[in-house]
Amino acid sequence: MSVPELFDTHCHIDDSRFDADREDLHARMAEAGVTRFAVIGTELASSRSAIDYARAHGGAVAAVGFYPGDADAFRGAEDLAALAEWAKEPEVRALGEIGLDYHWPDNPSRETQRRVLSEQLELAWELGLPCCFHVRDAHPDMIEVLRKHRTHLTGGIMHCFSGSWETAQEYLRLGYHISFAGPVTFRNARKLHETAAKCPAERILIETDSPYMAPEPVRGRRNEPTFVRHIAERIAELRGIPYGEAAALTTRNACRVYGLPFPE
Ligand code: NI
Repeated sequence: MSVPELFDTHCHIDDSRFDADREDLHARMAEAGVTRFAVIGTELASSRSAIDYARAHGGAVAAVGFYPGDADAFRGAEDLAALAEWAKEPEVRALGEIGLDYHWPDNPSRETQRRVLSEQLELAWELGLPCCFHVRDAHPDMIEVLRKHRTHLTGGIMHCFSGSWETAQEYLRLGYHISFAGPVTFRNARKLHETAAKCPAERILIETDSPYMAPEPVRGRRNEPTFVRHIAERIAELRGIPYGEAAALTTRNACRVYGLPFPE
């Protein structure tokens, strides 16, 4: 019996929370059809770890970069040079996660976040790599930054998208893909349901962001890439298409974004 293949476009599977059952986890993923996944860095050490994990596991790619919560750790030219060097490794298919997060009061200043984002956007352009964006409570500024870099954008993914359909359309016009995580499975997430139903088929992606953001019906537990099937199920329901079709179209889109050959 074969199950449809799934691509988890954003996870932190190298996290120590998976150390105890890593082997079982990969067996569960294979059983659920999760044959491909992207391991995402948030600063230098986790970026290196993402590459090494992807190298050691078939079907995996990596993204490297400084996410907004770690923007204070970014040392400018020195770190850009390290990311550029690592980007030569074949596993590295994107810069990320990068972006803006105004949700947490303890986060680096907005000015620092915007500077670190802008410098990495320019690096992505130089390297010709797409970006994985983390945006929380900061969509107007994010759209403004992207518009400023309009002639230097490389495409990519709005990870764990959390905005309205109107906001999604701004990102779609700028050429980005919309990726849905656990929240799209929540009953009261009407805005996300609308966006998941209306998003053009060639721009829709799924992810877990594990170990965070567990979807229904496993909400509150440690999340894992296996559970991306719950996202695919919900997307299928919201779009009124069979599960196999939701799996196929999101996997095809993910392969295209990350520059991988399509599965049969
Ligand atoms: Ni993440």
